[in-house]
Amino acid sequence: MRKRICLFLVLGALCISSFAKDYLISTPNTSLLVTATPGEKSKFQYYGSHISEKEIQSIYDSGLAFGVESYPVFGLNTPGERAMAVTQADGNMSLDLVVEQVKQYSVDEAEITEIRLEDKIYPFVVKQIFKAYRGTDIISTWVEVENNTKKAVTLYRFASAFFPIHRGDNYMTHFHGHWGAEQTMEEERLTNGQKVISNKDGLANTETDNPSFMLTMDGKPQEERGHVLGGTLAWTGNYLIKMDVHNTKFNIVAGINEENSHYILEAKEVFTTPEFAMTYSTTGKGGVSRAFHHWARQYKVWQGTIPNDILLNSWEGVYFKVNQQGMDEMMKDFSAMGGELFVMDDGWFGDKYPRNGANSSLGDWEVCREKLPEGIEGLLRSAKKYNIKFGLWIEPEMANTKSELFEKHPDWIMRIKNRPLSTGRGNTQVILDLTNPEVQDFVFGVVDKLMTDYPEIAYMKWDDNSSLMDYGSSYLPKEKQSHLYIEYHRGLNKVLKRIRTKYPDLVLQACAGGGGRVNYGMLPYFNEFWTSDDTDALQRIYLQWGASCFYPAIAMASHVSADKNHQTGRKLPLKFRFDVSMSGRLGMEIQPKDMNDADKAFAKRAISAYKKIRPVIQLGDLYRLVSPYEHKGVSSLMYVSSQKDRAVFFAYKLSHFINMVIPNVRMNGLEPEKQYRLIDLTAVNENKPCLLQGKIISGKMLMEEGIALKELLKSEYSSLALELQEVQ
Ligand code: GLA
Repeated sequence: MRKRICLFLVLGALCISSFAKDYLISTPNTSLLVTATPGEKSKFQYYGSHISEKEIQSIYDSGLAFGVESYPVFGLNTPGERAMAVTQADGNMSLDLVVEQVKQYSVDEAEITEIRLEDKIYPFVVKQIFKAYRGTDIISTWVEVENNTKKAVTLYRFASAFFPIHRGDNYMTHFHGHWGAEQTMEEERLTNGQKVISNKDGLANTETDNPSFMLTMDGKPQEERGHVLGGTLAWTGNYLIKMDVHNTKFNIVAGINEENSHYILEAKEVFTTPEFAMTYSTTGKGGVSRAFHHWARQYKVWQGTIPNDILLNSWEGVYFKVNQQGMDEMMKDFSAMGGELFVMDDGWFGDKYPRNGANSSLGDWEVCREKLPEGIEGLLRSAKKYNIKFGLWIEPEMANTKSELFEKHPDWIMRIKNRPLSTGRGNTQVILDLTNPEVQDFVFGVVDKLMTDYPEIAYMKWDDNSSLMDYGSSYLPKEKQSHLYIEYHRGLNKVLKRIRTKYPDLVLQACAGGGGRVNYGMLPYFNEFWTSDDTDALQRIYLQWGASCFYPAIAMASHVSADKNHQTGRKLPLKFRFDVSMSGRLGMEIQPKDMNDADKAFAKRAISAYKKIRPVIQLGDLYRLVSPYEHKGVSSLMYVSSQKDRAVFFAYKLSHFINMVIPNVRMNGLEPEKQYRLIDLTAVNENKPCLLQGKIISGKMLMEEGIALKELLKSEYSSLALELQEVQ
């Protein structure tokens, strides 16, 4: 039997312990256990389903305790992966960290446990922090590194998190992406060796793999069964998540990707790593997603509990051909369909160089008078006339070589002295050096000026259409060029914080050539993200399925576009396009002029239906029912309100063959004892709703036996959007 000594010095709400102790960090359904004995290594013992203080001993008795260092460092006893590696000013490459003190305290949103580790010889401190978010099942962790020596120390490795996993039949789910095909779900069994997901884009980190993963403890991933750990790194720069798998040990290391980013930590400087957030579910992947969605809405998406508007974005409707009359007509048509917000995308700015294509004007955020002689004022007048909100597109971190900004401030561009400048989109796009405080002021000023001049602007789409091209800053000193990837994001964070302090009610969308910046580094400043430039509803089912694993529907922008899709060329029924978009934050990205009257009438009904079910979709619990990745010819998901008195069910036919097998689908998340009335939300012909219209069925029946889809999804790309209302 293991001996534990627990002694506290209680100072108000702050507990400081200087003796050996188990620290149990819990949320309603999960627990994490670390031991910290002063003068010794801190140890990670357990992470899994919730345990009580009384059950701690059982973790040791049953042999489940890991006893693995909670933040292993390089230098002594080196074999294996390490969380940290540094070089001291005297050349010593080792660290030997032991516990100095542990603090536990409460802040508004969480319970915090801080383990202060100090080197045995050097005054070099690593504070390892665990944060249990109140009212959620998320615990996050990160470190704060303090250099209390007299000289600079170079950090070569600086992970946010390091933790062991019980080796078993472990499967990893991750979300690979590419422009137009973001968040494609991949599931694979982990074998011995290393599985790494990472990014080196510099600016937008989610178009390779999203910095998120799920890991099963016991076999193939299932939606509502099995033990699954889910983790995500809240960072929008380069990251690296490594599964280091061996027969007898398995560790996960997650943090900033340190490649080409060694960091010189000056005396007295503190380096804080990004937060790594995790949950542990005993109800499969669905449990992981719901835990992240709750956390996101409560803490990690800007104003994440305020439902988002239904918008029309001008991009696919007119591309760069923006003008006063065209925008006015779009607003008029969209308002007549019940739309709430109009967003003028790219093409509205550039005075000396009008923005007619991707090769000029970024940086010149003055309205293009040639196209918009009445200026933003004219557009706001139109919006007012049609009783609709107005927003616009910006890409404020960028310039084009053909721009007034570039002519005035060539030194603001990221580039390498004495080498030709690499250019991106339009062969002229370059990146502003956000490490420079003057540039930060400029970028803040883009939003600030627009908002000061036109306070009625309700929404901005903040885009980034470039990777970090040339790794050189004229602002950073020569010995700190390796800080560029990190300092860029610190600069971006500073700007976004200023914007949020001054403009809390401005709705911001995070876009990076589509879904390139879908991560919890960005979302704390943004109300939503553009999921992908691919608006093909069929492919969106796959994309949105992947995105829904970690990100909530309230933030997932999903737009109905033209029936011959501009990305894939596919033609899909308008009902199918709406039924797919309605499962996220509904919007449109289409030229309304090209829609016929029947289509407009349908869109009006669908928009009106969405307004009624919006709280269920945007704030409810998601249950994924039939995965498109299982290739069963159908896919289905549903949202349930927290009271379980309302739900919305979606089903989509993905392929079509005569007499094909179509499985019944069982619902989930409902109250078995409740009776629900089914309502067809988007019947093509109002007078001919689907067979289920008005039927009253118990939650028990809907969940145990489900509904038969074969009579409901009969044709190619047929779909269903049903509301379930509790019958008292
Ligand atoms: C990116 C975005 C698009 C659109 C264009 C405008 O590609 O992802 O939605 O805003 O830029 O240039």
